[in-house]
Formats: sequence, C-alpha cells, structure tokens
Amino acid sequence: MSTKPLWIRHASQLVTLAGSSREPLTGKRMEQLSIIEDGSVWLEDGLIRHVGTDQEVATACRERMQDADIIDASGKVVTPGLVDPHTHLVFAGSREDEFDLRLKGATYMEIMNRGGGIHATTSATRQASHETLYRESKKRLDQFLLHGVTTVEAKSGYGLSLENELKQLEVAAELNKSHPIDIVSTFMGAHAVPQDYKEDPDRFVDYVIDVMIPEVAQRKLAEFNDVFCERGVFTPEQSRRILEAGRKHGLLPKIHADEIEPYEGAELAAEIGAVSADHLLRASDKGIAMMAESGVIAVLLPGTAFFLMAESANGRKMIDAGVPVALSTDCNPGSSPTVSLPLIMNLGCLKMGMTPAEVLVATTINAAHAIRRGHEVGSIEVNKKADITIFDVPNYMQLQYRYGVNHTDTVIKAGVKVVEGGRLV
Ligand code: NIG
Ligand code: FE
Repeated sequence: MSTKPLWIRHASQLVTLAGSSREPLTGKRMEQLSIIEDGSVWLEDGLIRHVGTDQEVATACRERMQDADIIDASGKVVTPGLVDPHTHLVFAGSREDEFDLRLKGATYMEIMNRGGGIHATTSATRQASHETLYRESKKRLDQFLLHGVTTVEAKSGYGLSLENELKQLEVAAELNKSHPIDIVSTFMGAHAVPQDYKEDPDRFVDYVIDVMIPEVAQRKLAEFNDVFCERGVFTPEQSRRILEAGRKHGLLPKIHADEIEPYEGAELAAEIGAVSADHLLRASDKGIAMMAESGVIAVLLPGTAFFLMAESANGRKMIDAGVPVALSTDCNPGSSPTVSLPLIMNLGCLKMGMTPAEVLVATTINAAHAIRRGHEVGSIEVNKKADITIFDVPNYMQLQYRYGVNHTDTVIKAGVKVVEGGRLV
C-alpha cells in the first residue's frame, strides 16, 4: 500500500538518537540525543526514509517535494514516538476505595493480603466480558496516544486462571490489530496466588508452568513471561522456576523485582539473564552491579513509588553503575493508575535524579530495547518505523522543566497522523 509521503520540516530540535538500534544506551551515552537543529524527516510507506537538516532533506527529495503532505514543526521538538515498556493495560474496574484506605494508613500489601489489591481487580476482570475489557482498555490506549506514546507492552495477570488469562491476552491481541498503538504482550499468570490456591501456592506454580505457559505459548499470545517476585507473593525460587519454564516455551523472562522489600530479585534477573527487571525500589547494590554486568535493563516506575508514597528507585545510581535504564507508567488500577508517560519523565528527573536527556532516552530507545523492539522503533533513523511525536516546546529540556503538562501536539504512527493539535484525528 502506498500513501502520500509525510514531510516534517523545520523542527527546532529533531531528537534522533541515531546509532542506538543495536543496544540500549548506558552510562554517559544516555545523554547523547543526537539532535539536529532545523531538522526534517521524510516518511513514506510507514517508514522513515530521510533524516537530516531541512536543507539536506529538501535536496534529497527535490524531485518529490510537491507530492508530500507537510507538517511545519518550527518552534517544536520532534522525537521518536514514546514507548511504554511496562503496563497492565487490560483490566476491568478501579480501586479508588483502596487509595482512600492507603491515605488513611493501610499499606498496599495489607490490602492485598485481605483479598483486595490484585485480587479485587482479578474478580472484576474475570466477571467482565471480552467486549467490556476491550472497550475499557481501548479508552486507555487512546489516552496513551494523546500523551505521545506509540508502542506499549501489556501484561496479563488479572485472570489467574487459564481461561481468564487467555481472555486478557486475546483482548490485547485484538487491540493490537485495531488500534494505532502497537502492543507487545507479556504473560503474567504469576501476578498473585489466587485465593483458592492460598493454602498451597506451589500447586498454583505448577499450574502456571504445566498448564498456562504451554497454552499461551502455543497460541502465540505473548512474547514475554513476567512474575511478581515479592515476599508473600512468589519467592525467588518459585520465580526462577516459572521464568525458566517460560523460556523453554520461547517466552523471554521479565520480573517485578524488589518493589516492596529487598528480595534479591535484581540478582535473580541477572542470573537468569532476564530482558528486564522492573520496579527495583529496594534493589541491593550487589544486584545492581550484577544487572550492569549481565546487561539486564532496569525498567523504573517512579509513578508507582509516587502513588504508593514510597521512595523511588535510585535511577541515578543505576545509570552511574552502567545499568541501561528505561522508564514506564506501570499503568494499572492499584499502584499506578496513570497513562501519562510525560509525567513519569518529570518524576524521573525530580525523584530519581535523572537528567532531561536521560529520561528521553529511557522512554524511547531504551524502552524499545526493554521489549526487544530496538531495531524497529525508539529512534529516528532511516528504515525504522515512522512513529514520531511532536511536542509543542522549543527544546527538549522544557518537556521536564514545564512539568505536569501534556505538551504532545502531533503523533504520527507508521507514517499516519493520528493526533493533531493535541486531539485524536
Ligand atoms: O506493577 N506489583 C505488582 N503488580 C502491579 C500492581 C498491580 C495491582 O495493584 O493491581 C505493579 O505495581
Ligand atoms: Fe507492574
């Protein structure tokens, strides 16, 4: 299918992140944005075809200039479409009642142990029809798009039975086809031990390994396998078994690690060679060093720490230790009910000591690598997908400096304008 070329011209800053497609950026390289001033990008057939100064692209495309639709990006910042590498997108219901309880002193784990928390959303999600789940999740996806996000990872984990996990994953697969945002699916059957297995958690671990993982893999409904490794949920030993079993079926390991308590989750991620370890609020220095050594990406979720009123992960320390860092919303109804990746970037600066350049790397190319899409999205380079976000600020630092505002003006997904003037097209 060939559509009209789209030509973005005169960006005050075109943030390309050139040269980062093969590996996530680490250390000092996390500040190398490769900015082109008066920048220009030519998009055609869903791909990026030319990148350079406006003069350079105009020269290269001299003969075809009249064929293109033009977007004037003067005074604006153009970046790769943002990537959110950790969401619990597909769920039903909401938990503002628990928010109220937490504000009165209850903790996240207390609420979960009383049968609320993940269990509450599991009940709501089990009861919801495919159509309801689709509708609710689509609303969130639209909001992601309005915040400049063009790719998200989405985890299951509110079904906790084969039938209901499949339902969540099928909704994600359908949305991936129908919605402009690309969805990368993760199976997270080991998100909590369901109430009916409470007395024998190992029996549930066996069920995840023997029944759920083979079926999900066989139906090709997920690429990754994730587990909530936390005291009172799944032990490091159970987590290791689940992640190794997933790998035998081609599902790559990810892990919710060291969120509430130090539990050697970072160490486990490094030992098994997980693609990413996520949360890491309480990760040990040893675990951080091991992650740097084995190249595990830290997916940090400062919105979750903010919303749980906990101290954020130490992003600064991890970058300085050489760990590749990505950022994400963790969008879910319990610990982070937000779709605003731009706000997460603000928190990355203000709560984790990351710089405006680092948080941009962490939500584009490093986020893409955290879901194995670094070759396809996350930077503005020839032959990558034409996923582009245009922010109505004159330089990238203002994205963080003028915090708490959605500066997204235009979003282009696979070469097609899907948000214009801050509204869905
Ligand atoms: O990433 N920590 C575990 N899972 C989610 C929260 C899920 C929920 O509370 O519904 C998280 O924070
Ligand atoms: Fe999560």
